[in-house]
Amino acid sequence: MNRNEFIVRCAACLGLTGIAVALPGCSSARYIDATIDGSVMLLPLSAFDVVDKSGNTKALNYVVAQNEKLEYPISVFRLPNGDYSALLMRCTHQGTELQVFGDRLQCPAHGSEFTNRGVVANGPADTNLRMFPLKLDGNTLRVNLS
Ligand code: FES
Repeated sequence: MNRNEFIVRCAACLGLTGIAVALPGCSSARYIDATIDGSVMLLPLSAFDVVDKSGNTKALNYVVAQNEKLEYPISVFRLPNGDYSALLMRCTHQGTELQVFGDRLQCPAHGSEFTNRGVVANGPADTNLRMFPLKLDGNTLRVNLS
């Protein structure tokens, strides 16, 4: 299943059930059109914010950043220790675009799984994901793509 099929599937399950829990990855996946300045991707922390029905703001555990300059999207995770990780969503087995489910990235081609730190959790992939260095600059994450 590619990203477009996944999005359609999520939309279909939400439409049929009216709730956001039908698929594990549906309830919190957010795609962001990220800004790229030279070799740096800029991602405001507000990209993680979501307002619930009661008006309370919560932070998503991850967002998926995309830009026409990127061959693959980049998933950016908020980690429990307050750090962030930015991972290229390209499977290291044969290059299929990964999907995010909770705190894992999964490959629809042959089933490899990676943690939110890019470490191989299940093969056949045997190489960790590309992780980009990043730093927090005020309320903006600066992800170094070089
Ligand atoms: S391409 Fe991802 S597991 Fe084979």
